[in-house]
Amino acid sequence: MSTQVTKVSPASLASAPHSGPGPIERILDSLPWWALPATVVTVLGLFGLYSIWTAFLTGGINQSGSYLSPFYSPTIWSTGPVSPALWVLGSPLLFRATCYYYRKAYYRSFFWDPPSCAVGELRHRKYRGETAFPLFLNNLHRFLFYLVLIVTGFLWYDVYLAFWAPDGHVQLGLGTGIMLVNVILLSGYTFGCHSWRHLVGGGLDCYSKSRLGQARYRAWQWVTVLNQRHPLWAWCSMFSVVITDVYIHLLRAGIVIDPHIVF
Ligand code: FES
Repeated sequence: MSTQVTKVSPASLASAPHSGPGPIERILDSLPWWALPATVVTVLGLFGLYSIWTAFLTGGINQSGSYLSPFYSPTIWSTGPVSPALWVLGSPLLFRATCYYYRKAYYRSFFWDPPSCAVGELRHRKYRGETAFPLFLNNLHRFLFYLVLIVTGFLWYDVYLAFWAPDGHVQLGLGTGIMLVNVILLSGYTFGCHSWRHLVGGGLDCYSKSRLGQARYRAWQWVTVLNQRHPLWAWCSMFSVVITDVYIHLLRAGIVIDPHIVF
């Protein structure tokens, strides 16, 4: 008796037909139209306030032992009158602010432009899209991607350091796990970026006739798998950044003790 193995390739995942709305879509469909914009305003607003608080109002670098908060990584200038977070927060926050998905979310939620499908605009003005100040600055997104690549590399390095206890032994702690999950989610968000997808596989007429065409096509397929869930990566990575930062604050304050084993 032979066993038939069905191979699932990234291409088939990328091109798989949608089999109707899933449970989350069905719940969203049953809510009033304003529920989603109100949730986005609340969550993004709280995230903005939290970022200001942790970056500028808590004093010093949020670090406990080998654990460094993603809000402070990489630590460029650790002394001086200004919070070290100032020098590192710009690119990740602007990267999110100019992200194609977040744009859709905040244009609808904050500017009501329009707030939802089949709901009228708040104001009727001449439509200029993203061709005039300040919205044309959103076109900087692809350049911010390069900066965020560097930051993501540092975050992976921070996870590596988190595996080392201050006394030089290898450690596995709850904090290590939280930081690892955080950087995986951030990488899933970053490498599902629309600009990255275009860089990897766009600008070609024909893969088979291009230099490195096959390699680019395969890379494009994998990026597409991430890209299809870009909103999910966006929200999960945002929450994981906050959870990581809160956990390290709690360790610093002595409110919790990191459960860990040392080898
Ligand atoms: S489009 Fe969302 S991160 Fe680039």
